Amino acid sequence: MGKFCNNNRKPKRKGKKITVGKAEAVPPGRGATVQLKGGEVALFNVGGNFYAIENFCPHKGAPLADSKIYGNIVECNLHGWRFDVRNGNCFTKSGCSVESYEVVVEDGWIKILV
Ligand code: FES
Repeated sequence: MGKFCNNNRKPKRKGKKITVGKAEAVPPGRGATVQLKGGEVALFNVGGNFYAIENFCPHKGAPLADSKIYGNIVECNLHGWRFDVRNGNCFTKSGCSVESYEVVVEDGWIKILV
């Protein structure tokens, strides 16, 4: 973490696949908040592909799930920091990336590997 980042709410890794909902509930171009034990994840549908990152902007803590997405990029609602939803990389400040999580869709159900 760089000196501009502050993130102590990262969801704990458990090595589990957690079913979070039906794929049709999150339309393309939209995000959704997923509550997990130990943290929140922001889930995004980008053209039918699902991605998940921490739901916590490392700048001042805004929820990223509610922010606008432009292709693979989510732009934080509060001050415009930008992240790649595929891998959590931060384009605005180096060293301020967020955790990303693998997502699979099985029989129409979204599952996040935490
Ligand atoms: S909280 Fe400031 S850019 Fe996200």
